[in-house]
Amino acid sequence: MSGSIVAGILAPHPPHLVYAENPPQNEPRAECGWEVLRWGYERVRKSLAALDYDVLIVHSPHWRTFVGHHFLGVPHFKGLSVDPIFPNLFRYHFDVNVDVELSEAMCEEAKASGLVTKMMRNPAFRLDYGTIASCHLVNPSWSKPIVGVSSNGSYYYYSNEVGQEEQIALGEATRRAVEKTGRRAVLLASNSLSHRHFTTEAEIPEDMSREHVYHHGQYLWDMRVLDLMKQGRSRELVDELPDFIDHAESEVKAGALTWMLAALGFPSYPAEVHAYGTVIGTGNAVVEWNASHEDVRVAASPPVG
Ligand SMILES: [Fe+2]
Repeated sequence: MSGSIVAGILAPHPPHLVYAENPPQNEPRAECGWEVLRWGYERVRKSLAALDYDVLIVHSPHWRTFVGHHFLGVPHFKGLSVDPIFPNLFRYHFDVNVDVELSEAMCEEAKASGLVTKMMRNPAFRLDYGTIASCHLVNPSWSKPIVGVSSNGSYYYYSNEVGQEEQIALGEATRRAVEKTGRRAVLLASNSLSHRHFTTEAEIPEDMSREHVYHHGQYLWDMRVLDLMKQGRSRELVDELPDFIDHAESEVKAGALTWMLAALGFPSYPAEVHAYGTVIGTGNAVVEWNASHEDVRVAASPPVG
């Protein structure tokens, strides 16, 4: 059976969103907070519940590697993950299954296309909060196995463009591995958009009177990027990301969004923006590319000729 990528989600990972939800796995307790983004994630959960899929593949900025692209290579991880910046918000007890066969296939495909790769075989490895937060927010029951992919930052020392080319190659290798292994996969790009943030925290973290856009230029960039997504202009979007990175300190520099759009084959159908909001002033959007929407668009198009 030939596999396919059935959806891709821009799934930002601020630990605040997990904190505000009060799941049993997380130690700190919140009163509320960041509802619009959390409601966006609720819509994603409903959308994915209607899809038949086997695995979540997540690319996280906070599993940072500088020698190669690393892939989770142990069937089960259990432990405590603490956000180093916000240990008061995120102390999460994770218990995660990994699709190692798919992970190995992705590693092999990436290696065959000339990328430097490594399987992560340490059973005591502590999963990063980016991987955990994105997977939790999309699928809080953890009912599906995951494949975790690191964010290899080395090629950004040359330029943003070179870094992106590397992530495009990784995305194409990911698609081939999914197809060859017969998986039906959902991809998660675990990153924010603009990333200028506060320097002091409110006494009550969920005090929403402190939460807003802090820089109009950053906001304009976020709206530009979301507009391209909504119009299905994903190839043009990727071409503009090097400027977005420089002008808005964007977390897309970690490569997750570029990797995902390349794996999806640079979709020309409109993405669905489920939510936009700030977390400590950074721009975050929950956005879905659902391959079934492409079928609708194709069916609605008049015949050529
Ligand atoms: Fe982050």
